[in-house]
This record gives sequence, structure tokens and C-alpha cells, in this order.
Amino acid sequence: MYHVSIIGTGSYVPERVLSNHHLSKMVDTSDRWIIERTGIRERRIAGEEETNTTMGMIALQRAIQNAGIRPEEIESLVIGTNTTEPVWPSSGGPMVEGLGLRKDIPFFDVQAGCTGFNYALAIAENSIKAGQYTTVAVIGTDKLSAITNYQDRSTCVLFGDGAGAVILRRSDQDGLIRSYLGGNAGSRNLLLLIKKNGSPNGYISMEGRKVYIFAKRIMVESCLRVLDPAGTAGKSELRALFEQVDKIIPHQANARIIMGAAEEFESRLGLPDGEAKEKMIMTIEQYGNNSCASIPLALDLSIREGKVKKGDLLIFVGFGAGLTYGANLVRL
Ligand code: COA
Repeated sequence: MYHVSIIGTGSYVPERVLSNHHLSKMVDTSDRWIIERTGIRERRIAGEEETNTTMGMIALQRAIQNAGIRPEEIESLVIGTNTTEPVWPSSGGPMVEGLGLRKDIPFFDVQAGCTGFNYALAIAENSIKAGQYTTVAVIGTDKLSAITNYQDRSTCVLFGDGAGAVILRRSDQDGLIRSYLGGNAGSRNLLLLIKKNGSPNGYISMEGRKVYIFAKRIMVESCLRVLDPAGTAGKSELRALFEQVDKIIPHQANARIIMGAAEEFESRLGLPDGEAKEKMIMTIEQYGNNSCASIPLALDLSIREGKVKKGDLLIFVGFGAGLTYGANLVRL
């Protein structure tokens, strides 16, 4: 089996800022309610002409530049996204053409709710580990504003748009160590879905409280399982594994979910107060929940801001419609 590393990152957010203040003029809400319940102050909203494809393309272009490779070196393009319009063909075709990638490479969307980036990364990771490819691009991109009902205060305050990308390459170092993915095809399948409600694309509909409870628990479970795939480690072993992790980059759905999960790590593993909280990377205040973009965007920003650095041990952990979930253990 081959090893694989992340050799470049890039991201993009639209220019238009939608603040809590502005939202409070659109629906019956307030800046205070949104900050207290979610940690979000503002989010970015794509322009009319922008799509998950155009945003993903810019993020990928930046990742290619950051990696210092030529576009023709990319052998496969895997895109985590939920907002390709229409569903066919994949959002990747225009990216391949627009950025001068080889026209015969495989490109496809992975649709797994907000866990799409974790899933896409795992697929790409394994294709390199198996020896199928040397260089693969992975994108997380979503335009949730296209499927958000701006008359529904329980959802419209949460979501935003954006994109992030990584370049993976076969390597001597064990960069992408392993991934752990899961789903919930039972009763939880309908807690978060698109309902037509007379609109052409349909709107996001969710049972927020139930998703919240699930998300907090599954974030903790997913991180522990990616550290201990057999699920056999005792408390002290798990604690030792967890202490080796430098930062956790979670899907940015709600600051309270992220901090709640951190508290659960601390109580379950007997860690000092604050130790898990300090590991959590948060971008939600500025960008809200931009679905598949949230993890690669947070990764790219964290590298630029020096919050994470080469050699750090990271966990990317996500959850979303499905209800899907997953985590990737990464040595940067
Ligand atoms: N502004 C003001 N009040 C609001 C509001 C808003 N934007 N949205 C909901 N409320 C109201 C509710 O109507 C409810 O009022 P009631 O008590 O009179 O019925 C009250 O606030 C509390 O609602 P509740 O749903 O219990 O609040 P909460 O603390 O669970 O926060 C969410 C709501 C949606 C922020 C939270 O449940 C959440 O983040 N869930 C996870 C959602 C998610 O991450 N989805 C995507 C996963 S990828």
C-alpha cells in the first residue's frame, strides 16, 4: 500500500456578506439570538452567476498554485457537493476544462450531505493508497443559499456558501493516515432533507434539535473511532491517542455543537478543562455553515493564519444529511 499526503490547499468565499443584522430585517430573529444559539455573526452568499462549480474551480486553482503542480498532473477529481444544478452532469466537467486539467480524467460528485468532503477525501485517499493514481484533487463546494428558504428563521440563519480544495499526492510520509465513515439509513434519514414546497430546487428542512443532539454525539464517536479503528482501546489508551492530536477541524454547523463535543471529550477521557476546546478550529463566526466547503475552507485558512502547521496531527470530522458522518486522521 502507498502513502498519501496533502501537498496543497486553496479556498474561496463569495464577496457578499449577509450579517445577522441584515437577517433580522428579513425574518423574526436577532443578532443576539443567532450568536448565542449558533456562534454565527455573518455568512457569505454567492452572486447570481456563481455556482458550486465556479466557486470550486477558484478553490482548486488556488490549491494547484499552492501545491506548485501543473494542472495536467491531476489524474482524478473528486468533489463533495450537494448543490449541483441540475444534478447531472457532475459539477467537475467545467472545472476540468476551465483549469486545463487533462480532459480524459475521471471527475464526479460525492453527495453525502455536509459530510461530502470527508467522504470525497476518503475515496481519493484510498485510490492513491491502492496505487490507482499518484495525484488527485479533492474539492468541497456548496451553494446552500440556492436551497435555503429565507422566510424560515430556523434554517436561514445557519447557512452560507463557499469552497475549499486540497491536492493529494503519493508520498513517503503517512499523511492521510485513515478515514472512518458512517451513515444512518433508519429513522434519522429524514431529520435533514430537501422538501419541494413549490420551489424549483426545494428547500432545506430539518429537525434542528434532533440533528443537534446527534451531531454532538457523533462528532465525539467519529474522532475516537478514527483514532482507534478497532474500537477496543480503554480510557487511558484513548486519552493518550487524543492527546497526540494537535487540532480538530470540525464541520462548522454550530459553535455549541463543537464546544459541546469538546466538553464531552474532556469528561469522557478525564482531560483537564479546556484541553479539547483548545484543539477545536472555528471559522463559523464569519462563514456560518457552508456544508462541504466548511472543513477544507477552515483547513486552508488555518494554514494561512499559522493555526496549523506542517507535521501537525489533525482530525477532520463531519456530519450531515443522511444522517452521514465521518472523520479523517491526517498528518499535515
Ligand atoms: N431566531 C429566533 N428564534 C428562533 C430562531 C431564530 N433564528 N430559530 C428558532 N427560534 C426559536 C424556536 O422557534 C423556538 O421557539 P419556541 O421555544 O417558542 O418554540 C426557540 O427558538 C428554541 O428553538 P430550538 O430549536 O429548541 O433552539 P436550539 O437551541 O436547538 O437552536 C438550532 C436551534 C437550529 C440553531 C440548533 O438546534 C442547531 O444548530 N441544530 C443543528 C442544525 C444543524 O447543524 N444542521 C445542519 C447539519 S449539517
